[in-house]
Amino acid sequence: MTYPEQMRNPGDGSVVVDTQPSSRPVLEMNGISKTFALKDQSVVALDNVSLSVTAGEFISLVGPSGCGKTTLLRIIDGLEQADAGECLLEGVPLSGISRDMAYVFQDINLLPWRSVLGNVALGLEARNIGKNERHNRVMEVLEMVGLSSFSAAPPYTLSGGMQQRVGVARALAVRPKVLLMDEPFGQLDNFTREALQVEIANLWEKLGTTIVFVTHDVDEAIFLSDRIALFRPAPGRITKVVDVDLPRPRTDYDVRANPKAIELRAQIVSHLREGDNS
Ligand SMILES: Nc1ncnc2c1ncn2[C@@H]1O[C@H](COP(=O)(O)OP(=O)(O)O)[C@@H](O)[C@H]1O
Ligand SMILES: [Mg+2]
Repeated sequence: MTYPEQMRNPGDGSVVVDTQPSSRPVLEMNGISKTFALKDQSVVALDNVSLSVTAGEFISLVGPSGCGKTTLLRIIDGLEQADAGECLLEGVPLSGISRDMAYVFQDINLLPWRSVLGNVALGLEARNIGKNERHNRVMEVLEMVGLSSFSAAPPYTLSGGMQQRVGVARALAVRPKVLLMDEPFGQLDNFTREALQVEIANLWEKLGTTIVFVTHDVDEAIFLSDRIALFRPAPGRITKVVDVDLPRPRTDYDVRANPKAIELRAQIVSHLREGDNS
């Protein structure tokens, strides 16, 4: 497969020889704040949030509902504007919607009148990729998520898990530098969710894409991540960042049985509970 090389190829014919892949920041958030003004009150969704994400890293944002995780992803993606602070992609300030980023939404939001293929092609059409290449890239990512034989199907004929695989394929098709995922498995049953967690871990290992993954599920975050940023609400902020120092590839069993993982889980849950002022 040529995909991983292309993902890592800057596109100018040169090849990046990355001697320190773990230290190069690809995405930086510096002092991000956002307040939403409502009729008679305002909500500080994010208060001075800073985080640096290294190239190829899998980082999760974890915290209870309402602590600003979605708002932060939307600001990174350019769907929302911060009141203060800035985001940098490879050192360059981001403004507006970035073509180097792709977003997998919690509500699967496929277009019902388009086939699976047509849905996955959306981001490529927006980027004016020609028909042949579009087709090749769509088939390539459908293969990766195990849906190549469903390319002509309308989305409503697929199960929830398959629909979210289409969402993942649609995001990967644009070969993003950073993949943003907002509780992508939140609406799926446990079995499907666990299967997709394994699939996304495998895809991430294969492609080397940087992933920023939002979840409120501590076990999901530990299973998938290199690091986990813990959020507390009112005002939404990062209060702690922890390393997930567990060998890869991981299995569900590793994460349940490894004493380090059990300890980490306890530490995370206790930190989040301390901040629970509801
Ligand atoms: N468009 C909006 N208008 C007003 N308030 C909003 C808007 N978006 C988010 N909020 C508020 O900002 C806070 C953070 O929301 P959100 O980023 O969705 O949190 P999370 O994803 O962690 O659940 C919440 O209190 C939410 O009600
Ligand atoms: Mg959210």
